Order: sequence, then structure tokens, then C-alpha cells
Amino acid sequence: MYIKALHLKNYRNYSDYCVDLKEGLNLVIGENAIGKTNLLESIYFLENGRSHRTSNYQELIKWKDGFSTIKASIRRMERDLLVEAKILKAGGKQIMVNGVVQKNLRGKIRPVCTVIFTPDHLKIVKDVPECRRSYIDEILEKIKANYSYWRQQYVKILRQRNVLLKNVHIGRMKGDIIDYWDKQIIGVGARIIFARKSIIEKLEETAKEAYKKITDTDSTLLLRYENQLLLEGDSVESLERRYAKELEKKRGVEIERGQTVIGPHRDDLGLYVKGVDIRTFGSQGEQRSTALALKLAEFSAMTDSIKEQPILLLDDVMSELDETRRRALMSSINNGTQTIITSTNIEYFGESDVSMANIIRIGQ
Ligand SMILES: Nc1ncnc2c1ncn2[C@@H]1O[C@H](COP(=O)(O)OP(=O)(O)OP(=O)(O)O)[C@@H](O)[C@H]1O
Ligand SMILES: [Mg+2]
Repeated sequence: MYIKALHLKNYRNYSDYCVDLKEGLNLVIGENAIGKTNLLESIYFLENGRSHRTSNYQELIKWKDGFSTIKASIRRMERDLLVEAKILKAGGKQIMVNGVVQKNLRGKIRPVCTVIFTPDHLKIVKDVPECRRSYIDEILEKIKANYSYWRQQYVKILRQRNVLLKNVHIGRMKGDIIDYWDKQIIGVGARIIFARKSIIEKLEETAKEAYKKITDTDSTLLLRYENQLLLEGDSVESLERRYAKELEKKRGVEIERGQTVIGPHRDDLGLYVKGVDIRTFGSQGEQRSTALALKLAEFSAMTDSIKEQPILLLDDVMSELDETRRRALMSSINNGTQTIITSTNIEYFGESDVSMANIIRIGQ
């Protein structure tokens, strides 16, 4: 899939901007604050109906304007699609494909599919476990039917269970009310655990290779699903039994704290190179390479899932890498993938990349 042309109206710093893109490599070059990230953000919006930077969509409308539109003509599965987004200052946003409003952007079916990497994605590696859980969950929501429903259900059940635990703690309710909620949380929690386990195993296959390539070493990146309950070789039944036993054991502690202390909301993704935990002990370079390897693995998982290549959006990735890693990254990107890379400096790219790329200079 690839975007042939993009038209932004009143979007962030753009009043009226049209740009042609090509199937392979596109380099978006321009000074700081010229609108490079805004351009990638608009493409991300067409896929997700939200920004990757802010949850307030009205920020995307050019200051003092009342609305904003993003239009993209897309070539996908040998068909031409017109994907449009409209954002209103008065409130409201919609995405249309060939004039038809898309009601639900969650789940597998999206008008366009992207994998985005920005310097902020370093937080997947460095930050708190919640960032890694969200990263895994967002991939699963795109590739696994019903995952987003399970995720929402889990959040609801967890919230309810915690309220009840607090009520039991202050003596407003009896402890046996929790039994029903144990069954609920185990049913949904076990599905989430198995889904996370399988995607992490899948990501590891590609991330390992990508990490070696990017770092130009034979160091192996290991991805470990860190969950309190799951054991090697577990079936759904054996996991559910253990889950129930553990909840029973922890009931006293949970009532005391008014909080559910075990379950997938406590999961983490372990990232190790040569036995060293990259999350806490990795150098800046190792952490960056790990984040990039994860993103390239995500790209590969998405390709398998949708049976075509998503669009790869790389924001300002070059300035963070040394010369060797820049070359290695470029060589790990497939020529046929529509890749849009922003940079302030075209010299970060090798001659052969520049000669075959579509160069888009913003602000000139
Ligand atoms: N709603 C808006 N209306 C008008 N301008 C905006 C709006 N939102 C952001 N901007 C402006 O857009 C400009 C470009 O932002 P952007 O983040 O795309 O820059 P960039 O080219 O990626 O820069 P850098 O190289 O520093 O990352 C910023 O100066 C910002 O003030
Ligand atoms: Mg930027």
C-alpha cells in the first residue's frame, strides 16, 4: 500500500499544502519547526483517527481556523482509495473512505496502515512497564480480532473488582461478592495473557535479526514476556486454575490494599542483550537500537497480518544514530515499502538512497 498524494488544509502549520509521494523511499527534509512531524502525524491520523502526540484532536486545527482536512489518494491491493479526515473546532471528527464515513477505527480494518517511529518511542524501552504493555496492546488491537474488546472489558472488570475490594475492606460488603468477579477477570485476563505471549514470541523472531543488523554486531536481543502467572507449556485450563488459586491466596492482601495485585495489568516486556536488562542498564545507543528493532518487528508482524506492507513513518530517526547504524537501518528497509523519513539534514543519507528517493523539501 502507498500514498500517492497528500493534501492538508488548515492542518497544524499548513494552510493549504499538497505533496506527491512515491512507492519506495520518500525523504522529507526541512529545518526545525517547519512541519515535518506534522506531516507524518496527519498520515497517522488517517489510520487511527487520532494523533500520536496528543489526545486533544482540536490542537491539530490550524490556529484561528474552524476546521481542518487531510486527504490522501492511496493505492492499496490494486485499487485506488480516497481517504479523508475532517476535524471541526466546534467538536467532531470523521474519517471517510471514498466518501463513506468509517464508524469504527478500532480493530483490524483500517483505511490505511502505518508503523510509526519517533524519538518519543524510546519510552517503550526506557519508561515504565505501562508503556511496554500499551505498545504490545496497540499491535494486538490491530492484528487480533476482538482484542480491543477484551482490553476494554479487562479495564472495566478490574475497576469494578477494585471498588468492591475497597468496599469489603471498609466492611460495607461481604468478601464472597468478589468470587463472581474472580471468574470474570480470569476469563478475560487469560485471553489477554495468551495473546500477549504469542505476539511477543512473534516479535522476537524479527526483532532479534533487526537488532543484529542495526547494531552491526552478533548480539542477540531477547524479548521476554514477564507475567506473574504463566508457566511454560500452560494450556488455557492450567493457566486459569493457577490464576484462580493465586487470586484465592492473595484475597487477604487484596482486600487490605483495595487493589487487584495479580493479573496482566502487572505485565512487562523484558528486553535483554547478552543478559543485560536494556530497560535499565542499556546505553542510549542500545536503547535506541532496541526501540527501532521492535518497530521493525512490528512492521513485519503487521505485514503478515494484513498481507501487504504498511507505510513506514520514521520521524527524525537519523540524528539519533551513528553513521554505521544509519547505513544499517537504511539497508534493513525493503525497497518496495513506502517509507517516509523526516530529517533536517539530507547528508545523513547515502548517495544511492538520495538518488532513488523522492525528496520533499519543506519550507523552500
Ligand atoms: N494548530 C497549529 N496551528 C498552527 N501551527 C501549529 C499548530 N500546531 C503546531 N504548530 C506549529 O507547527 C510547527 C511545526 O511543527 P513540527 O513539529 O511539525 O516541526 P518539525 O519540522 O518536525 O521540527 P523538528 O525538526 O524540530 O522536529 C511548530 O512551530 C508549531 O508551533
Ligand atoms: Mg519534528
